[in-house]
Amino acid sequence: MKDLLKTEHLSRADVELLLDTAARFAKDPTTASDTLAHKSVAVYMSKPSTRTRLATETAVAHLGGTPIFLRSDELQIGRGETIADTAKVISQFCSALLIRTYAQAEVDELGANATIPVINGLTDYDHPTQALADWITIREKFGKDISGRKFVYLGDGNNVTTAWLMMGAIMGAHVVAATPSGKWAPDAKVVETAKKIALANGGNVEITHDPIAAAKDAAVLYTDVWMSMGDPESERKEKEIALAPFKITEKLMSTAASDSIFMHCLPAHRGEEVDAAVIDGPRSVIWREAFHRRTTIQAIIFHLVRGELKG
Ligand code: CP
Ligand code: NVA
Repeated sequence: MKDLLKTEHLSRADVELLLDTAARFAKDPTTASDTLAHKSVAVYMSKPSTRTRLATETAVAHLGGTPIFLRSDELQIGRGETIADTAKVISQFCSALLIRTYAQAEVDELGANATIPVINGLTDYDHPTQALADWITIREKFGKDISGRKFVYLGDGNNVTTAWLMMGAIMGAHVVAATPSGKWAPDAKVVETAKKIALANGGNVEITHDPIAAAKDAAVLYTDVWMSMGDPESERKEKEIALAPFKITEKLMSTAASDSIFMHCLPAHRGEEVDAAVIDGPRSVIWREAFHRRTTIQAIIFHLVRGELKG
């Protein structure tokens, strides 16, 4: 596997390898500091980012390389140079490329035309690097035996939902997405793919529109912003009304398992998708989850440049 374009492309063995390496980089970030000596990694973004950019640039530094941050509107791509040509040029200079953009097709096209590893740093479809940070955080809390536990996402059926369902399926987990029905439910194709992967890994993918039933006895309650980057402002009111029952309140959190944790990819809007008392409370693991954005991206770059992910 040359690239990490979608979460669903990872095999269970790839994820195990990445999580083990990320755990090593969590203890000591410098254990592979000659991996990218005299080399560079491009970080190309056409949407804002706090964590993913910081995590990638610091991961590259820990691997001994130099990150080069590229904003799409400062490249010739903004003046009509093709994605394919841009991919070929970046491949002349850099050892890997992480991209954050809107269309998944753009990332796929970069991957097809670049000779270097291309990493999806978030698209409208998926957020694979986030899913790895989430699962190392879950593993630290619950260990490797997750049988009988339920891992629940509540909110908008978006890119983070895709990552959550696919990664949960790969891990053989009982993974749930509780979303409104209709246009804010996860895409049918995403659900179908996740179910197929779950079947092969002993997992169980459940889609529900009932937040109360979903949260009951859950090991994890996870949420994301209701308005994602690029979502039409004209839909905000309608969306807020549809999503209100999926807010993670103190009351909802109290119905989860007694050792349950709260997770959020961040950025968060306190009082909107989650109560401040939950996200800032004792069950919240958001800062450890954010910390692991670096350890997992470092592991992804490390194994991709060495050609060690099989897919
Ligand atoms: N979770 C996440 O991707 O954060 P950023 O948008 O800040 O990169
Ligand atoms: N769903 C959010 C995730 C941000 C990390 C978005 O795409 O804006």
